[in-house]
Amino acid sequence: MRLRRDRAIEIKTPEEFDRMRAAGLVVARTLRVLADSVRPGISTAELDAIAAREIASAGAEPSFLGYYGYPAVICTSVNEEIVHGIPSPERRLEAGDIISIDCGAIVDGWHGDAAISLGVGEIDPADQAMLDDCAAALWAGIAQARPENRLGDISHAVERSVRGAGQYGLIREYTGHGIGTAMHMDPPVPNFGTAGQGPRLRAGMALAIEPMITRGGERTVELADGWTVVTLDGSRAAHFEHTVAITAAGPWVLTDLSERKVPPPDRVTFVTGGDPDAG
Ligand code: MF3
Ligand code: CO
Repeated sequence: MRLRRDRAIEIKTPEEFDRMRAAGLVVARTLRVLADSVRPGISTAELDAIAAREIASAGAEPSFLGYYGYPAVICTSVNEEIVHGIPSPERRLEAGDIISIDCGAIVDGWHGDAAISLGVGEIDPADQAMLDDCAAALWAGIAQARPENRLGDISHAVERSVRGAGQYGLIREYTGHGIGTAMHMDPPVPNFGTAGQGPRLRAGMALAIEPMITRGGERTVELADGWTVVTLDGSRAAHFEHTVAITAAGPWVLTDLSERKVPPPDRVTFVTGGDPDAG
C-alpha cells in the first residue's frame, strides 16, 4: 500500500468512486421523489415509507435504519428541528412549514448521504432565504473540495458564505464527515474554520459536507426521543448535505442528479459571489 500522511482518511480508487456514485444516485433520486411528495397534509411517516420503497426498488439498502438503533429510513426535521427528526404518522406537514429530509443508502457496501430542505406550500420569504443561503453555503464548501486544498478551506468557505448571507446561527455541535465504506468516517467536517488548516485533501477522499443554520441562535437541544435536535430558542433551521468525491479534476458531487463530474462553474461563481479564490 502507498505510504501516505493522511492515514486516517479512506482513499478510494476511481472504480470505488463509481460504486459510491451508484449509491449517491439512489439517494439523489429518492430525495427528488420525496421533494415531489412534500405537500400540506402528508405525514413524515408517509415520506419515510416512500423513501423505503424507492431505496428498495433501486436494489439498495437504507443506511440510517438501525444505525445506533435509529428507527426509520430518513430523518425528517420540521421547522425548529435541525437534524435527526424521526418520521411519525402524527406529524402532518402544514402549509408554511419547512422540512429537512436526510437520506442515506448503501450499494455494494458503499455509502451515499445527502439532505435537502424545502418549504411546504407557501412559506415566509425569510425562511426561503435561509434555505437558499444554506444551500449556497454547501456549494461554497463543495467548491473547495479539491486536491491540495486543506479541510479548513471547506470549513472556512461554508462559514464565510453563511456569514456573508445574513444574521444566521451557524450550528457547530454537528459536522459533516468522511464517507465511503461507512456512513460516518474520519475526518469530521466542521462548518466553520480557518482556511489553510487541517489535513490536506487528496484525490480519492470522499466527504459529506452538511451545513446547518438557523434564523436565531446557535445552541441546540436533543429531545427526549434521543435523536431529534432542535434549536434552543425555537428558531427555524435549514440543513443541506451532499456526498462529494475529491478527484484530480475537482469535486464530483456524487449525490447530485447532474452527470457533471464537477459543479457547473456558473453555480460555483453564483454561490461564492464571484470570489476569485473559490476555485
Ligand atoms: N445523514 C446523517 C448525518 O450524517 C445521519 C443520520 S443519523 C441516523 O448526520 F441515525 F439517522 F442515521
Ligand atoms: Co451526513
